[in-house]
Amino acid sequence: MTDPIEFSDRMLSLGLARVSEAAAIASANLVGRGDEKAADQAAVNAMRDQLNMLDINGVVVIGEGERDEAPMLFIGEEVGTGSGPAVDIALDPLEGTTLTAKDMPNALTVIAMAPRGTLLHAPDVYMDKLAIGPGYAKDLVSLDMSPAERVNTLAKAKGCGPEGITVCILERPRHEDLIDEVRSTGAAIRLITDGDVAGVIHCAEAEITGIDMYMGSGGAPEGVLAASALKCMGGQMWGKLLFRNDDERGRAAKAGITDLDRIYSRDDLVTQDVIFAATGVTDGSILAGIKREPNALTTETILMRSKTGSVRRMIYRNPV
Ligand code: FBP
Repeated sequence: MTDPIEFSDRMLSLGLARVSEAAAIASANLVGRGDEKAADQAAVNAMRDQLNMLDINGVVVIGEGERDEAPMLFIGEEVGTGSGPAVDIALDPLEGTTLTAKDMPNALTVIAMAPRGTLLHAPDVYMDKLAIGPGYAKDLVSLDMSPAERVNTLAKAKGCGPEGITVCILERPRHEDLIDEVRSTGAAIRLITDGDVAGVIHCAEAEITGIDMYMGSGGAPEGVLAASALKCMGGQMWGKLLFRNDDERGRAAKAGITDLDRIYSRDDLVTQDVIFAATGVTDGSILAGIKREPNALTTETILMRSKTGSVRRMIYRNPV
């Protein structure tokens, strides 16, 4: 094992909360306006401005896309004042652009920071994901098990039958067989239309959210963000990159990934301590969305550190 890199996460964490708050505030006027792109751009601009005020020597490793497709917060972009610790940044200025445009639940702004070289440089491809909350034996379930086996194994460990398990899955045609198999066990399914970072986080607070397990494919970049959150909150996650064509395999090669069949555990996706912040844009089961008062906007942010396992929920009132 390599020595942990010096990482002043305690000092940096409040700055990270400010970054995610600013992105949410910037997208406030675009909630429910039917314009995904405008909402995303507003969040990107605000996140970048705030990030560049932090005393870090940061590099975006999970961002808005490759340099040629994302003018801002592209993968490899250097952020911060340059006069602080060398860190990796994973971000999704608006996780759930469609949720925001349609004013549907659980749109978040999301950002994670970790010592340089410790977050997986996940290419923009799909990832098969599996997550459960804290308190279960290590590697209780796995991506090698069938979906039904995962449900039955988790139910046994929870001390209930499969009907006592709720699985969260993205509602997509590609998940039809998965959904049928999970239903055949008797387990319940919470279908979400978007936002699998929130989907995975639900597992960490099963007694509040009612969700025991997350399954299915979604963006690989979102997988690294979800793993960062679970590393702070507790819970296990596994991810396997999925490739549909040579272009996608090329993206992996560019990111330095050679083993295309590897199953990554949570701690392979995020190898050392991480800090994570997310702010609610629309109301959801994890965070309240942006609220309007006569002369102010109010946001709720979750700010977490894996080193201590601390989880803060912060209300910010921003005069407008
Ligand atoms: P955006 O906010 O970029 O639209 O992503 C939303 C999202 O639902 C992610 O949470 C998820 O990982 C991904 O899209 C799933 O991709 P797809 O819509 O192609 O199934």
